[in-house]
Amino acid sequence: MDGVGGTKRRKLPAPWLAWASSPKDEDVTVEDGEVMDYPGFEGFLGSRASFMLDVVFLAMFFVVPVMGWSIYQVKYRHRFLLHKQIQIGIGVVLLSAVTLFEIDMRANGWRERAAASPYYNAEWSAGWVNWSLWIHLPFAVSTSVLWVFVMVQALRKFPRPPQPNEYAPRHKFWARIAAVDLCLTGLTGWIFYWLAFVATAS
Ligand code: HEM
Repeated sequence: MDGVGGTKRRKLPAPWLAWASSPKDEDVTVEDGEVMDYPGFEGFLGSRASFMLDVVFLAMFFVVPVMGWSIYQVKYRHRFLLHKQIQIGIGVVLLSAVTLFEIDMRANGWRERAAASPYYNAEWSAGWVNWSLWIHLPFAVSTSVLWVFVMVQALRKFPRPPQPNEYAPRHKFWARIAAVDLCLTGLTGWIFYWLAFVATAS
């Protein structure tokens, strides 16, 4: 859409994000008065991110504490069935969010939305937006693989209803790595989100 004339209306951040931007960012004037927009559905958090980027950003704030509570329940209260049910619930939430997110990214991309960031560079190997994405991706990919592995193995190897058995030490080993990996995926994802969709050039 670049190169088409018009007043390119850049989304102003919501009041709680205003500190990260300059008031000069309201409009970027191009040639012939047409109002430009980002592709895809708009987000609801007041940044430049799309709807699904906002959903995934928020989902991590929900999923990480719930997983912490589930691990607390199994470790200190021995509520094995509750732990199983919550982990399956989190798995379903994550799988749905990530699938819709991937569709949004393939269909609409994110780079146009990140272009107003002072950390953005169109060259994929330059700038903090790209670097933070390169840091985030290994965590995101390994978390997806580990979560599927831990869930499938736990469902196959624990009895029903779940109780510790000879598989428990292996479950604890891989599940702890999967849990830490998910936290790091969330943390690095939040940093990428801020650099790409909140920070605004002055
Ligand atoms: C990716 C999903 C899962 C994660 C991240 C996860 C995480 C954990 C963690 C970290 C522990 C160890 C707690 C401690 O330090 O004592 C644990 C224990 C346990 N988990 Fe999971 N879990 C997951 C899925 C499941 C599922 C689907 C089941 C049941 C089918 C299950 C059954 C158990 C049981 C029975 C224990 C107790 C093991 C013992 O105390 O010896 N978990 N889980």
